[in-house]
Amino acid sequence: MEKFVIRGGRPLKGEVFISGAKNAAVAIVAATILCDEPVILENCPQISDITFCMKILRSMGAEVRVVSKNKVYIDCRSLNTTHVPADMAREMRASSYFLGSLLGRFHEAHVSLPGGCDLGDRPIDQHLKAFRILGAKDSMSDGEEHLKSERLIGGLIYFDMNSVGATINAMLAACKADGYTVIENCAKEPHIVDVANFLNSMGADIMGAGTDTIKVHGVKYLHGVEYPIIPDQIEAGTFMVAAAATHGTVTIRNVIPKHLESITAALRQIGVSVEEFDDYVRVWTPGELRGTTINTMPHPGFPTDMQPQISTLLTMAKGSSVVTDEIFSSRFRYVAELRRMGADAKVSSKSVLITGVDELKGASVTAPDLRAGAALVIAGLAAKGVTEIRDIKYIQRGYEGIEEKLRGLGADIELVHSVDYFEDNIKINA
Ligand code: EPU
Repeated sequence: MEKFVIRGGRPLKGEVFISGAKNAAVAIVAATILCDEPVILENCPQISDITFCMKILRSMGAEVRVVSKNKVYIDCRSLNTTHVPADMAREMRASSYFLGSLLGRFHEAHVSLPGGCDLGDRPIDQHLKAFRILGAKDSMSDGEEHLKSERLIGGLIYFDMNSVGATINAMLAACKADGYTVIENCAKEPHIVDVANFLNSMGADIMGAGTDTIKVHGVKYLHGVEYPIIPDQIEAGTFMVAAAATHGTVTIRNVIPKHLESITAALRQIGVSVEEFDDYVRVWTPGELRGTTINTMPHPGFPTDMQPQISTLLTMAKGSSVVTDEIFSSRFRYVAELRRMGADAKVSSKSVLITGVDELKGASVTAPDLRAGAALVIAGLAAKGVTEIRDIKYIQRGYEGIEEKLRGLGADIELVHSVDYFEDNIKINA
């Protein structure tokens, strides 16, 4: 068992370098299955979700090598199965991308229904709708989704809602299909554009990623490439909020400021200063933080993946705030943990209602999921006293070396290997 121990109350100061985007990388690693030659991925984040994706590829026969820190070589020519091992698939939401890429390459896929962060019900009906339109038949047995098609033929896919995963899966399945596919009502997140750019850099013909309509002309062959993954919008946003919450001054390097616009706008509304440069932003808090109202929306709106972090900041802002999550309405399990730290916040339907307090106090808390865990780290950094965060495996799924990066900014944070009595007994009895 690992936990973070944070002695809070130190303003963060200095520079931090943002890693490659998790949500682009998990899709791109799965997309390498479609490539007819080896691929090198640069700026690939060292996080446990990526380790999982690479383990899945290896277990299926691919050659996967870490060339150097953040650089990975993947050759999927020797892939010899359409089955993703069930125990691995269930670990990650992103394993649904193996459905699209295996279907695109082999016209068949077997993937156990994905797990990942528990944010409430996460159906994949829109993914299946896209696969069916392209000609696949789907069936489910023992929790495993099975897709099969004689051939994939382009078609018109109209999504009922904005879905990041379904939009990416539709591109993966369509990029080697026969003919022309039009995908309407697409999600527009930066990682969708990055996946399309990756596929195009290998010879795919995809237009319109980042808009409502994506058009795909199927191609027969995808060639090898060296591709750098974009910087992580949410990791950058998390450090921006951490700088604000600790009343520090932090320069956040290797970012695309355009991707951060909705986060920057929300922070400015709260009284935080954000200065934008070509590939970095500087964040500091000149005075008091002010309460506000925030609604999460699909891109370019305020991202649901920043909802716990910004709500945590607002627990320390003057006045009252309401943060509503329209995308994952039960993504509020961190609120009970924040209350242990002295926050005045309560959940009502899809919203958290917050009344700012003068300060948070250190406490022992548990990370309920990835972004909630990051929010608790922010709370611990700002709080008076010592905060212990358990279940940090969730945080490690998506933040590369968060404790080292924070220490580089002057935080007092330690990763502690604690002995868990029950875990130890299980090992002894096994
Ligand atoms: N939805 C459906 N049916 C579908 C697909 C989605 O009803 O077939 C609903 C979902 O239940 C949700 C909404 O549509 O209410 C949006 O879901 P989306 O498909 O966009 O989410 P996702 O692809 O499962 C990705 C990210 C999440 C991020 C969301 C929203 C990855 C691997 N995951 O999930 O990231 O919150 O988009 O932006 O890209 C995270 O990084 O912490 C994280 C959870």
